[in-house]
Amino acid sequence: MSESILNIDSITKSFVKNIVNVHGNNEDERYFIIDDLDLLVPKGKITALIGGNGAGKTTLFNIISGFVESDSGTVLYNDKSNSINISKMKPEQIARIGIGRMFQDNHIFQNLSVLENMLIADSNTFGEIPINSFFRTKKNKEVEENKIEKAKEIFENIFGNNNSFWERKNDKAKNLSYGQKRLLGLTRLLMGNYQLLLLDEPSAGVNASIIPQIMEIIKSFVDDKDLTVFLIEHNMKVVLDIADFCCFMSHGKIAALGTPDDVISNDEVRKIYMGA
Ligand SMILES: Nc1ncnc2c1ncn2[C@@H]1O[C@H](COP(=O)(O)OP(=O)(O)OP(=O)(O)O)[C@@H](O)[C@H]1O
Ligand SMILES: [Mg+2]
Repeated sequence: MSESILNIDSITKSFVKNIVNVHGNNEDERYFIIDDLDLLVPKGKITALIGGNGAGKTTLFNIISGFVESDSGTVLYNDKSNSINISKMKPEQIARIGIGRMFQDNHIFQNLSVLENMLIADSNTFGEIPINSFFRTKKNKEVEENKIEKAKEIFENIFGNNNSFWERKNDKAKNLSYGQKRLLGLTRLLMGNYQLLLLDEPSAGVNASIIPQIMEIIKSFVDDKDLTVFLIEHNMKVVLDIADFCCFMSHGKIAALGTPDDVISNDEVRKIYMGA
């Protein structure tokens, strides 16, 4: 296997739930979602993470991106020259060193315009309000103009000249179709200065006609932009079409790992995905 961008080492995560025990009393019970999980994510490839509902896939992404702290274990991020322990870092620090995230529910800003959604994702902004009409200096104006130019180029690069996203740049994002929102959610990741993208179910819920476009964009992240993609995906056709590697999460661990073809022949995987 090639060099890794993430070394996930012995990660454990438990939650506590309140249950009624056999004596009819309330008691806290600890249950493990991730149980001593190890995984290397190869650099410059597309790796798919699959597993049943509630298997802990999003929780693992939350740990990598700093939204949830693990109970134990470490996550090392290998950027171009350093190996950085990101286990205790905050989400904004993790984003700054090069790990971008697309959430399962997309997280685009419905009441901002298409263009503002791009600007707010810029590596110079990181979640600050992009257009501050007070105290606007000449320098700020220049920075903003550069960002707008960058957004235009990214749209053209992905969707071609005279694309509908640029034409609709001033429309509120809420007026886009669900599939277009997903495409915007993916495209805006290129505004950040990322090396690794964590994509949580990018094809979920979209019209089948949009899925080939989503796959093309994800492939272009790796083939044209030299990024690494780590992707949670339920659609096995997408996994088989675009992923170089696939890992199957079950009972808090990586239960199968290999090429998508290898992993799909695992009995438990077949049961979940093919009902066989
Ligand atoms: N903050 C939390 N507190 C308590 N339980 C949680 C918390 N976050 C997640 N869980 C539980 O952990 C389990 C794993 O959730 P997670 O969202 O990681 O699953 P998933 O593999 O992404 O599932 P899906 O395919 O449905 O998106 C679920 O049972 C969920 O209810
Ligand atoms: Mg999930």
